[in-house]
Amino acid sequence: FNTNAQFFIAAYLIGGIPFGLLLAKKYADLDVKSSGSGSIGATNVLRVVKEKDPSLAKKLGIATLALDALKGVFILIIAYFAGVSEATLWGIAVLSVIGHCFSPYLNFEGGKGVATGLGVMMFMLPLEAIVALIVWAFGAKFIKISSLSSLTALGALIIASFIIHPDMAHAPVIIIGFILFYKHIPNIIRLLKGEEKRVV
Ligand code: G3P
Repeated sequence: FNTNAQFFIAAYLIGGIPFGLLLAKKYADLDVKSSGSGSIGATNVLRVVKEKDPSLAKKLGIATLALDALKGVFILIIAYFAGVSEATLWGIAVLSVIGHCFSPYLNFEGGKGVATGLGVMMFMLPLEAIVALIVWAFGAKFIKISSLSSLTALGALIIASFIIHPDMAHAPVIIIGFILFYKHIPNIIRLLKGEEKRVV
């Protein structure tokens, strides 16, 4: 094994930790995979736990968002200080998102990659990530549909990356974008049918 392979494996294995599922099970005794959208992300934790305890739901939602965002960043920081190349950092970023979305601990099912994607983008492309975060926050506040906010923010992030860094290799951003889009297909179908649930 060279060092890069170890970082890649760690990114996938740590990216795959389903924090939302674990927190909702431990603190609310609820299974997010069989309720709400079936996703393991912060939105579904908030949605599912809210029925039982709204204030706990907020805490668990925020904790899920933070842990899902930080799990990718954690490996990126270690790899960065180990002096790996930019391409290796991007590989770690993509594999963290893949781990979250296709978790080795959940039969390769998992979340939709929004928090983990945002976390790794905060590290790799902070300006673009801030643009995405602002768009997401506007969507969450005014449209109140998490998936639509996420998809809009994703579009904004990709466009921002072409404007802010026109000369970079955009493949990793496009790959992450494609994974998130793919994982949101059920949401997109519900949005088109007018059946997507609002979170608050
Ligand atoms: O963050 C994921 C969000 O975009 C959609 O989640 O649970 O509503 O499918 P959910």
